[in-house]
Amino acid sequence: MEFLDKLVLPQSAEHIQLLHYMAMLILFLFIPFISVVFGGTILSYFFRRRFNKTGDKLFLRFSRDSVQLLTVNSYAGLILGIVPLLTLILIFAQLLHTTNFPTVSDLSLAFILIAVGLISVYVYRLSFALKLVFDSVETKGSDDFIKEEFSSYHLKTSKLADNSVKIGLIFLFLGMWIFSGALTTAINYNTWKPASFFVTVFSSKVIINFLTWLCISFAFTGITILFLFLFWKKDELKVSEDYRNFVVAIASRYALYFSLPIPVLLLLNIHLLPDSLLSGSMFFYSVLSMISLFIALNFIYLLYYKKQYHYAPYLFFTFLFSVLLLVVKDQITINYATKYHSVVLSTEYDKILAELKGEGKGEVINAAEIYAVRCGACHKFDQKLVGPAHFDVLPKYVGKEAQLVAFIRNPVKVDPAYPPMPNPGLKPAEAEAVAKYLLEEYQKQKGK
Ligand code: HEC
Repeated sequence: MEFLDKLVLPQSAEHIQLLHYMAMLILFLFIPFISVVFGGTILSYFFRRRFNKTGDKLFLRFSRDSVQLLTVNSYAGLILGIVPLLTLILIFAQLLHTTNFPTVSDLSLAFILIAVGLISVYVYRLSFALKLVFDSVETKGSDDFIKEEFSSYHLKTSKLADNSVKIGLIFLFLGMWIFSGALTTAINYNTWKPASFFVTVFSSKVIINFLTWLCISFAFTGITILFLFLFWKKDELKVSEDYRNFVVAIASRYALYFSLPIPVLLLLNIHLLPDSLLSGSMFFYSVLSMISLFIALNFIYLLYYKKQYHYAPYLFFTFLFSVLLLVVKDQITINYATKYHSVVLSTEYDKILAELKGEGKGEVINAAEIYAVRCGACHKFDQKLVGPAHFDVLPKYVGKEAQLVAFIRNPVKVDPAYPPMPNPGLKPAEAEAVAKYLLEEYQKQKGK
């Protein structure tokens, strides 16, 4: 993905914040959509097989309805599946510019797999519908040539439906696995750099996140089916009492059984996060998401055991809300993990901007003075005051002036033995001058 990296320019701090919001909005669209497409296609596949074994028409109808309703139509596949992923790749190429971090290349691989998967699912959807048309046509009385043509196309569409659904499911499965891996690397950006692609996808962090998505996918599919059959498309579908009870039973069980593991998986996910990424807002959104999930579980209970079907929309929206909160929680963690790098990028941006404007050439910045006034109260070179002695912390910044500038402009928590350093509020050029001054002084004093 180096070519992407070359296309990208460093961005201002405001722009980087905007990119985080955009990534969140895109995931709001993409995650629910891909979840029901995958879940709906799996249901369709299994119930088709059950129909082939038993010949029970209810199975066939359910198989058709689940793929037909949950994949909406092929435009939705493009707008909600493919475009968001492409945009996400571009966003991460900007957020992780100059780092050569695996997130962007993993996302690109996921994109290819998911695109092939989605196309196959839409081929399946169409060929399934065609096959049903073929099934219902009588060819008695036509001449032999037509009969032969007919049965040859009939067979071909059957085969196409069988193959495309398998290809679609396999590609979506692998694609979403790698997608989970890519997001997980971004979430753990400052603490975890997996040695290779395989280390990424088989690490426990990624597997837990992927399993969480699978559960969300199956549960949300069940819930969406309830929502469509009992509320949204109730009049349009004109289902018989029998068929409705059948659908409600399957969909509720899916919703229930796959919702239950989500809290456990979320706990494991948080447990695997490094301490430096545990923020108050991350916990806040996780707890809120779980409360919302428990309310949703309550609605499933009312719906399935008490037959209170009018709760279907409440169930749908509380569960969706819970999923979106999980997206927010992940995005907050990504924001947190990449904060440091973001400051490096925006410092770079400010520098380019200042150069373009020709600033900073005439005015003289007195770094020693700024240091004495703004830092001296808390720091000395050889002795710790409020903050650590520079001799103890500067070695890691030698040759890494940009990172020192980044820290000074936006201090992050480093050493648990100290309180956090407050932001000294320096201008970019000042922060740079002070960083340079510190490193020079450090070399000088060390030489003594
Ligand atoms: C109010 C006190 C205070 C002021 C003012 C202050 N610092 Fe700090 N500084 C700290 C503390 C406390 C830490 C330790 C933070 C930590 O480990 O989380 C620290 C840590 C540091 C570190 C080490 C970072 C690391 O990666 O370990 C550097 C470098 C630093 N300060 C530079 C500066 C500079 C330059 C200024 C002036 C522009 C400054 N500080 C102003 C309190 C202060």
